[in-house]
Amino acid sequence: MRIDAISIFPEFFNVLDLSLIGKAQRDGLLQLNRIQLRDYAFDRHHSVDDTPTGGGAGMVMKPEPWALALEDVLASDDAAVRPTLIIPTPSGEVFTQRVAEELAGRQHLVFAPGRFEGIDERMSHWAAEHFDVRRMSIGDYVLNGGESAVVVMVEAITRLVPGVIGNSESLAEESHSGEGLLEYPVYTKPAQWRGEAVPEVLLSGDHAKIAQWRREQQLQRTRKIRPDLWAKYVVAQEMANE
Ligand code: ADE
Repeated sequence: MRIDAISIFPEFFNVLDLSLIGKAQRDGLLQLNRIQLRDYAFDRHHSVDDTPTGGGAGMVMKPEPWALALEDVLASDDAAVRPTLIIPTPSGEVFTQRVAEELAGRQHLVFAPGRFEGIDERMSHWAAEHFDVRRMSIGDYVLNGGESAVVVMVEAITRLVPGVIGNSESLAEESHSGEGLLEYPVYTKPAQWRGEAVPEVLLSGDHAKIAQWRREQQLQRTRKIRPDLWAKYVVAQEMANE
């Protein structure tokens, strides 16, 4: 998979050189290109922003440096399929595990995180001629810029690329995969720790019983902590039983 991340803070993405995503890069499973947006701003101060048309607070990113940077990305893309352009924004569609799964199947992702009050709307309209454009939010809160959202999305997507995670079984059991239930609680040694014992059933060696206990924990947790996911799960169960 190829990923291009364009930003005025490309060093922000260096955290992706650590751990499993870093290894995936070194193993050739992932090519992560960091691009400095200011390299495509050709005025004296390499400025990438300007005042909002119509008035209002803050600054808006100019569309031209983005278009020039994206044209460079396109020029070096030899794949037959259109790359996907992801624009992080709190006003986008919500990034979920389903979206991560879908994007993990793409060959080439390009991330365009804005700063300030966002990017001139015309950039995404122009880009739609060349890319599959997705405006994505990682949750209902506002960040100072889209870079940290890019890090979140790249990590969630690339760990699903075959070979990035050694043990693919651990993917299947995780929260938000499959049925959309939360994960069951996990324990390790010692069996007694600061006055609390691990649940007895986990020491029983009875695999069927353990599986049943874990399942109950998943259901209970989801119902209590995430009523929204629980409602979806109940509807899916009802439909399956019809
Ligand atoms: N930029 C600012 N806030 C954001 C959010 N919640 N998701 C994605 N990009 C953002």
